[in-house]
Parts: sequence; C-alpha cells; structure tokens
Amino acid sequence: MAEFTLPQNSKIGKGRDWPAPDKAKKLRTFKVYRWSPDDDQNPRMDTYHVDVTSTPMVLDVLLKIKNEIDPTLTLRRSCREGVCGSCAMNIDGTNTLACTKALDELPDDEVKIYPLPHMPVVKDLVPDLTHFYAQYASIEPWIKTESPVPGERERLQSPEDRKKLDGLYECILCACCSTACPSYWWNPDRYMGPAVLLQAYRWIADSRDEATGERLDFLEDPFKLYRCHTIMNCTRTCPKHLNPAQAIGNIKQLLVQRQN
Ligand code: SF4
Ligand code: F3S
Ligand code: FES
Repeated sequence: MAEFTLPQNSKIGKGRDWPAPDKAKKLRTFKVYRWSPDDDQNPRMDTYHVDVTSTPMVLDVLLKIKNEIDPTLTLRRSCREGVCGSCAMNIDGTNTLACTKALDELPDDEVKIYPLPHMPVVKDLVPDLTHFYAQYASIEPWIKTESPVPGERERLQSPEDRKKLDGLYECILCACCSTACPSYWWNPDRYMGPAVLLQAYRWIADSRDEATGERLDFLEDPFKLYRCHTIMNCTRTCPKHLNPAQAIGNIKQLLVQRQN
C-alpha cells in the first residue's frame, strides 16, 4: 500500500499518554491525532493503550477509546460495514476505512491514526469535506435526458450496458483516493480529483444518459481533468478496490476520440 504525507504541516505536539487499563489480556498502542478548534493549541498525538481482545477493527478500537477512555475523541462513522464512507481516515500511512481495517492487517507495533491528509480538519479525525462535495455536485451526478420517457415504464438498459457501470457505481465517495493524490493536494481548488472524476465517468458511461457531450465539455480543462498525471495512488488506496485512474483514462480517451 502507498504511504502518504501527514495531514497537516503545522507542528504536531506530543499529547497525553493515557494509562493502560488494569488486567488487560491483549494490549495494543494507538497514537491518535487530536485537534480542536475550541483550544488555542497546536495539534497533538495522544497515546492510548487498548485491550483489543474484542475489537477486531480499527473503528472498534476508536469507539472503545471514546466510550471507555476519552469521550472527547471525535470521529465520523455510520454503517460500520464499508458502505457509507464516513469513517475514512489515514491509518498507519494509508487512507482507508476504519470499519473495514482489521488490526490483524497492521504491524504489531503502535498504530498511528490521522484524519485524511491535506484536508481542513473540523476536529480530531473529522475532515471538512465541504469543497469535495461541492466538486461532486458540480458534475451533476444524476441522469440527464432530453428524449421523452418511453411510455409508462422506466428507461431500460441492456445487461451489456449495465455491466459498463460495474467498478463505478460501487464508489462510496469516501475521499480516500482524492486525499491520496498529490495533484489534488497541490490544486484542490481547480483539479477535480479521482473520486469526482470516477463519478463523472459513471454518468458518462451510463447508456441512459443523454448529456455526454455536455459532460465532456465541462471536464475538458487543463485543471479539472488534465492535472491527473497518472500517479496511481488513488487506485492503490481505494478501500473498495475500484480503479479511479482507469476511469480518468477513459474520459481522456473519449476526449481524444471526439477530436478525430
Ligand atoms: Fe472512495 Fe474508492 Fe470512491 Fe475513491 S473511488 S471515493 S477511494 S470508494
Ligand atoms: Fe492522482 Fe490517481 Fe491521477 S493519484 S494523478 S488521480 S492516477
Ligand atoms: Fe461506514 Fe465505515 S462506518 S464505511
């Protein structure tokens, strides 16, 4: 797995070392990024020693810390099944989902947990995704049609055309890929990033959509699309095993084809 730079350049101080619980059967150490807008202080790394006998996943550990050690720890999560994307964070150098990251997959020594890299932080492990969602909205992620609905039924799609959406519709917009992409780190205001481009391609590839030309016009831009330099961190880190780099390549190919 690719390793990425840490989320913030500001100095990260040594935080509190919380005491280990008594009579723990299996102790592991976690260093967790902490920052609150309510404190006038730099970020810090707090150290927690957790009995992991009943916490198979990183999310279980974080919830155990919050419930039993330090209720001020802030994180986002919802489904705990890898489908909502809200628990995305940087665990031991890799952007991934805390709920599907098993402790067994991590090295035995201490585990470092940060929010997603290069995003503003709301608090602790919660990144501010406002800009990311605005970029997603800008690609108009819904079917656009001009032709009338065929009679009383839905717009049909052949099994072959439906298959073209495999590897695209599964994206949960966790932002692991975009926040792993150096091009997105450098130009987050103008480059769309791999997650949004994969989503853009999902609608371009949909046989029912009738706005392909308009969608390609919108993306044909030196920054929105062409800031992808095929670095591939996106595809390496996607916790759903999708291939945003391939989706971006497909958009570029369609733009070349329509010029010829
Ligand atoms: Fe997350 Fe993968 Fe979608 Fe990127 S492509 S947002 S990493 S699910
Ligand atoms: Fe970035 Fe992936 Fe392109 S890491 S540069 S979006 S191939
Ligand atoms: Fe939903 Fe992890 S809690 S993806």
